[in-house]
Amino acid sequence: MNVKEAIEKRRAYRSFDPIEISKELVKNLAEVAQITPSCANQQPWRFIFVYDKNKLKILFTALTGGNKWAEKASMIIAVFSKPDYDCVIGERLYYLFDTGMATAMLILRATELGLVAHPIAGFKEERAKEILGIPDEMRLITLVIIGKHSNEINPVLSDAMKLGEKHRPPRKKLEDFVSINNYRDKFNE
Ligand SMILES: Cc1cc2nc3c(=O)[nH]c(=O)nc-3n(C[C@H](O)[C@H](O)[C@H](O)COP(=O)(O)O)c2cc1C
Repeated sequence: MNVKEAIEKRRAYRSFDPIEISKELVKNLAEVAQITPSCANQQPWRFIFVYDKNKLKILFTALTGGNKWAEKASMIIAVFSKPDYDCVIGERLYYLFDTGMATAMLILRATELGLVAHPIAGFKEERAKEILGIPDEMRLITLVIIGKHSNEINPVLSDAMKLGEKHRPPRKKLEDFVSINNYRDKFNE
């Protein structure tokens, strides 16, 4: 699979079949994060790969109501960092950007390996940090829900989510977010 194929194949699916998670898979995903670029090579990202079934069960209690579907996850990757792990240039804080890039690489690699890797923001941060022993000063940025896509739609999904299993949610047009040479000169074909 080339990069464009992986980008196109990636979807935030919410219906999963269970799979066994191996140390090798963890290494595979961690290694693409490892070589991600970062400001002054500071590598601010930190990950906890959670796949012990009992630990997962406890972590599910930190999910918000709309994310019940994530209880079918075979693994959850907690992604965290803190501002002074990365460049701070005036008001530009790079820790979220660089950690996001590393997470995107990991998501694409998971996609290439035939898995769903779905990042979520819908969780209780303090509760999840406590469960995972993440120090107070860290920002738990996302939980990446890992599973094998199931063709059988998860019955806990809302109607909108069910639709999302079939079709990618609509995107902005290029001219809504791309300019050429100058802010006011919006892209048009
Ligand atoms: C930072 C972030 C937070 C998200 N949080 C949630 C979430 O809490 N629950 C959920 O069901 N999906 C969540 N999503 C998934 C998005 O809804 C999804 O990526 C978007 O609808 C586009 O669909 P696609 O990724 O399949 O193209 C999140 C995605 C990102 C990047």
